[in-house]
Amino acid sequence: MAKICLCLTGRTLERDLEILEKYRKYVDIAELRADCLDPDERFQLRRFPEMAGLPVILTIRRGIDGGKFVGGEGARITILSKGLAFAEADRRRNFAYVDLEEDLEVPSLEEAARTFGTRIIRSYHNMQGVDSDLTGKIKALWRVGDELAKAAVMPQNLDDVLRVYQAAKETAGGEKILLCMGEYGTNTRILAEHIGSHLSYTTVKGEADLPAAASGQLDPKVMAETYRFREITKKTRIFAVTGYPLKVSASPYFFNSIFSIENTDAVYVPIPADSIQSFLRLAEELGVAGVSVTVPYKEAVIPFLSYKSEQVKSIGACNTIVASPQGWMGYNTDAQGFSDSLLEFSGRRDLKGRKITIIGAGGAARAVAAEVYRLKGKALILNRTAVRAREVAFPYRFAWSGLDAQGIALMDKYADIIIQTTSVGMEPKADADPIEFYQFRGKELVMDVIYKPEKTRCLQRAEAAGCRILNGYDMLLRQARYQYKYYTGKEFPPSLINRVGF
Ligand code: ATR
Repeated sequence: MAKICLCLTGRTLERDLEILEKYRKYVDIAELRADCLDPDERFQLRRFPEMAGLPVILTIRRGIDGGKFVGGEGARITILSKGLAFAEADRRRNFAYVDLEEDLEVPSLEEAARTFGTRIIRSYHNMQGVDSDLTGKIKALWRVGDELAKAAVMPQNLDDVLRVYQAAKETAGGEKILLCMGEYGTNTRILAEHIGSHLSYTTVKGEADLPAAASGQLDPKVMAETYRFREITKKTRIFAVTGYPLKVSASPYFFNSIFSIENTDAVYVPIPADSIQSFLRLAEELGVAGVSVTVPYKEAVIPFLSYKSEQVKSIGACNTIVASPQGWMGYNTDAQGFSDSLLEFSGRRDLKGRKITIIGAGGAARAVAAEVYRLKGKALILNRTAVRAREVAFPYRFAWSGLDAQGIALMDKYADIIIQTTSVGMEPKADADPIEFYQFRGKELVMDVIYKPEKTRCLQRAEAAGCRILNGYDMLLRQARYQYKYYTGKEFPPSLINRVGF
């Protein structure tokens, strides 16, 4: 089983130990990053394995490999030798591993390591990209007997990541540590078991004095608890969320928590993608079973679907895809989540006789307009760019206008329900209000698809005028519950509804 390794980047051994104690239950191995220690502390590092009480890797990373060591090579070798010096008969008091870069040829260090039972990790870092012959590179790292090969590379896109998984397959026989750094690499860290990596490096978040050990590392608690890293095997079904830039925090928590509660052998992984084609290639290689597709790929994914639900066809956007032997099946749960949320909010079974203003004309507005039409409501579409409002309104014969004085005046006739679908008012620009000139009467039901902040400026004004208000969180949860059903074929457990976060 792949292990969780915590990179310790404190300036003192005491600080590293404090961090280790705090996270001990999530950690199998610690990496002492001696390059982050104060110079005086480096001479004490020999004590650390005994203090730590679990297997420790000794690493002194140079600047060119992403580390902080600025001294000369001689100084580095001296510190490494001190770390490996045989002081105790008990091998548990020695470093379990030492990380030696592939270009570091110091036979005395290697001999010391072998003599004292310290396993050599022969490491290679490519901070710029992924080598064209990564397979050959990994094979070349296996020089002697029980050395562990380590390759850490920096993919520039998702096709690079795909090549790393392929190199992993081609080197499946040997023991190695393999990972992709950076924003595209998080999936290789979570799926260490799939990529055949001996361990996955993590780093604690939110401690101001600790520098990040490498880009893309997760917090050990998140790795162990949210992603259930220790339960992931090659058989674990993989689900994913993709988009770019991928700003998700709620959905990995939602899906991984429910998989855990339901004892489902599945993991849900964020995979930012530079193109939907690259994402699908990687998803197919990994055997991903289902995907939440987010901005900006909800339309771009449609040409790759072998089946499209009626809603995908009518709205022209797809946020949920499921793998089948025939190919990807596409659904739109945003629309279903939205209309369930609105109907419950309004206490109605349809929108017959309701006059509704929809603010915005983007993807979200299209889904809202399609649902309002299906539920027999009548709408006015208002958008900054009036011609886009017209495009959304046209198929349903809805009214439309620009988001200007004339449009705001028209709202008086469409004031039973107001639905805000733009990103205006979202954090970090939470003081914006797309309809700042509209005076709420107090009778409108007002829904905003934004849920951060909880109450947008627009919702605050509406509430102050006496309106009932609803933010987008309810809709988000409802669409995720539909996704759960498409992913697993099972109903979302009713007992979980109303529990925080579900
Ligand atoms: P989504 O898929 O989330 O709806 P989108 O398709 O990019 O995103 O649509 C964004 C919507 O927010 C559009 O209606 C956009 O108006 P334009 O069509 O005029 O671009 C609207 N929007 C974004 N920024 C805005 C702003 N500062 N003021 C008013 N509307 C804005």
